[in-house]
Amino acid sequence: METLFASKEQVIPMPRIGDIAPKFSAVTTQGEINFPMEYKGKWVILFSHPADFTPVCTTEFIRFASLEDTFAKANCKLVGLSIDGLYSHIAWLRAIKEKIKFKDYKNVEVKFPLIEDISMEIAKKYGMIQPGESKTQAVRAVFFIDPSAIIRAIIYYPLSLGRNFDEIYRALIAMQTADKFSVATPADWQPGDDVIVPPAGSCGTASERVETKNSDMECSDWFFCTQKLPKNKVLEAVLKE
Ligand code: BEZ
Repeated sequence: METLFASKEQVIPMPRIGDIAPKFSAVTTQGEINFPMEYKGKWVILFSHPADFTPVCTTEFIRFASLEDTFAKANCKLVGLSIDGLYSHIAWLRAIKEKIKFKDYKNVEVKFPLIEDISMEIAKKYGMIQPGESKTQAVRAVFFIDPSAIIRAIIYYPLSLGRNFDEIYRALIAMQTADKFSVATPADWQPGDDVIVPPAGSCGTASERVETKNSDMECSDWFFCTQKLPKNKVLEAVLKE
């Protein structure tokens, strides 16, 4: 099993795709939360950042906050975390709202919860402390957790690299599309692009795929079949008004 720390005192398994999201209770800028219980039935993006009052993190918070309603329409809540205390979080979020301009964004209010994790307990549980990068700051981790509290995707970025929020949103919509339509999404997929039909599971199906003309499906070979999935069908299925 992958472990975060090799020392005898502290061996913490890294959560993996397919695991149930580790439980915790936490103090946040929006009051106490019990995770993942109180998010049942919703997707959650649980993400960490290295520290408050740092410039890259500030741009990321501005982007996440400006997209909060967009994520909410896809039934997805945002929850942030860093190894800072509550009062630091509050002061930083106030400074972002009152003083920071980034691109065309200004006066941005962060309304989603930001967890205080001075003890690093939650960050360690989620493998957000990666000692080769920093022993005292969380890396930029992004956990996608589904409505049944299963971890569905994890992306890690180093401290110096600000995240791409278009990609985070694309990944969320792609996973929801895969669930709703029982398909997979190819490289660079965007809503409206063709999707991948799951591989043939038997020799009979493989032959059928190449021999039968099917108006829905286009097969270049038995293992490579795509299908049209119009953008409006995707958006109707995954977005609520
Ligand atoms: C930043 O958010 O600007 C940052 C944080 C830690 C290391 C480097 C940059």
